[in-house]
Amino acid sequence: MKKICVLTGAGISAESGVKTFRDEDGLWENHEITEVATPEAFLRNPELVLDFYNQRRRQLMGVKPNAAHTALVDLEKKYEVHIVTQNVDDLHERAGSSSVLHLHGELTKSRSSKNDQLIYDQKEDLYLGDLCEKNSQLRPHIVWFGEAVPEMENAISLVFEADIIIIIGTSMQVYPAAGLIDFKKDNAPVYFIDPKPTIQSTDTIELISEKASQGVQKLVDKLLSS
Ligand code: OAD
Repeated sequence: MKKICVLTGAGISAESGVKTFRDEDGLWENHEITEVATPEAFLRNPELVLDFYNQRRRQLMGVKPNAAHTALVDLEKKYEVHIVTQNVDDLHERAGSSSVLHLHGELTKSRSSKNDQLIYDQKEDLYLGDLCEKNSQLRPHIVWFGEAVPEMENAISLVFEADIIIIIGTSMQVYPAAGLIDFKKDNAPVYFIDPKPTIQSTDTIELISEKASQGVQKLVDKLLSS
């Protein structure tokens, strides 16, 4: 079975009603990264940071996977599909994808602020005073700016082993995630689906300038019939 690695960003969840970060009215237009998404912010004002992610989590509970998430599940009929997502939502899992690696963490989990191995399911709001089993404050299970990306090596392996790469809905601005494409096999074709793609087409990179719900369905139909 041929292997496909799908790299997804906020754009794939946009049509579910989850805000992207850098589009007009995106999250980073209304919030300062340094106030809500860094370890320093959590030390300085933990309540503000917890509240920001509580809002994100509550919003996530009210949305559903869209046609793009679902089409990627169909791809598993013919291919071994591994999704590497920058998204902290759980829409790929809820759609039914069987292999999802979260590079930037997961909104539906929390972890100890002292021991990153102590990870818990977190479906409700998280507050100051909510403690792990060793009595340390819990924090969102999110990779903040300035923190290491522990899943990077696993992600590199999935890209390196893939016969086909699909990139969906990312501005390719955030490293190391944006550099993953450099680890692909030289001859592996890349399909980049985004209404405003930020990379150039080449012999191996095909740009599909469409919204995820349309572009992914068309590409999946093509790959299933090829
Ligand atoms: P961005 O907000 O930077 O980029 C969103 C991309 O989605 C843009 O290229 C849009 O053109 C595209 N887009 C918008 N609507 C779309 C649609 N309907 N279908 C397909 N694409 C669409 O989001 P990311 O690239 O995911 O990290 O951001 C990367 C990281 O930066 C995030 O994981 C987050 C953020 O800071 C952390 O918080 C650690």
